[in-house]
Amino acid sequence: MNRHFLSAADLTRDEALELFALAAELKQRRKSGRPSTTLAGKTFAMIFEKPSLRTRVTFEVGITQLGGHAVHLAAREIGLGTRETVPDVARNLSRWVDGIMARVYAHATVTDLARHATVPVINGLSDLEHPCQAVADFFTLYERGVDFTTMRMAWIGDGNNVCHSVMILAALLGVSIVVACPPGYEPDAGVQATARRLGGRLEITEDARAAASGADVLYTDVWTSMGQEAEHERRLEAFSRYQLNETLVGFAKPSALIMHCLPAHRGEEITDTVLDGKRSIVLEQAENRLHAQKAVIHKLLGGSLDDT
Ligand code: CP
Ligand code: NVA
Repeated sequence: MNRHFLSAADLTRDEALELFALAAELKQRRKSGRPSTTLAGKTFAMIFEKPSLRTRVTFEVGITQLGGHAVHLAAREIGLGTRETVPDVARNLSRWVDGIMARVYAHATVTDLARHATVPVINGLSDLEHPCQAVADFFTLYERGVDFTTMRMAWIGDGNNVCHSVMILAALLGVSIVVACPPGYEPDAGVQATARRLGGRLEITEDARAAASGADVLYTDVWTSMGQEAEHERRLEAFSRYQLNETLVGFAKPSALIMHCLPAHRGEEITDTVLDGKRSIVLEQAENRLHAQKAVIHKLLGGSLDDT
């Protein structure tokens, strides 16, 4: 595995599958009360430029469960890029901690941290990607025994950071994916090229119903991501035909699973009935952030489960 985890493209297919197996093992260990000590005596810094519930809690709890300690750093408090340059923050932190997780606005901030840090850096969401989310999502499907090579996923809505990481991991795993979005909100062209280079079976369409037709998995995310609040009204209008509601779900396979990274803007991109319905696996996704990220940390720090 690469020294850092900034993009889903930092993984190979085999590494992704290894992460899933390790996450399953770590989850099982936790449930059976067997402690893991991969991070004994080690500390992680967690930098946040944006709000978070799941990432904050799952990283902090996961690091604790591995026997380590997490230090929360609000970007405003440390003055990331204002009081001190990003490279200087990276160089200093590297002298004290064993790893850095950062949630940032610009993806360049996390690549800049990685370039100047001598410890592993993990992207906890940037404007370009959310790779930890995608690992947890496909781990959730793996755990359910889904056959990646025959399943078809439909992404409905914004071609955003979560969509990008999901597209890349789908390509790595051989999952066929259709992204349905309004014109102007397509996934980044560079990410589309990466997914295709990795052999991804990727289709982009404006037609949400065609995308949902016969799908095994329907995935959506907010129409207005953090940092885009000024565009909220314009986005509400642009995405109005892309809501994941019962009518749209009706086009998918009767067994189709509903995914959302959360937080949801209920009544916008998804209705209560669909989000809280029988096919929704959103809380499994949220739960699995914990175990998937423990697996990522374990691999980055070169730990072996035999040591634990
Ligand atoms: N899905 C996710 O990353 O949630 P948070 O923004 O609450 O961390
Ligand atoms: N696309 C969303 C994901 C939040 C986890 C955002 O960037 O705000």
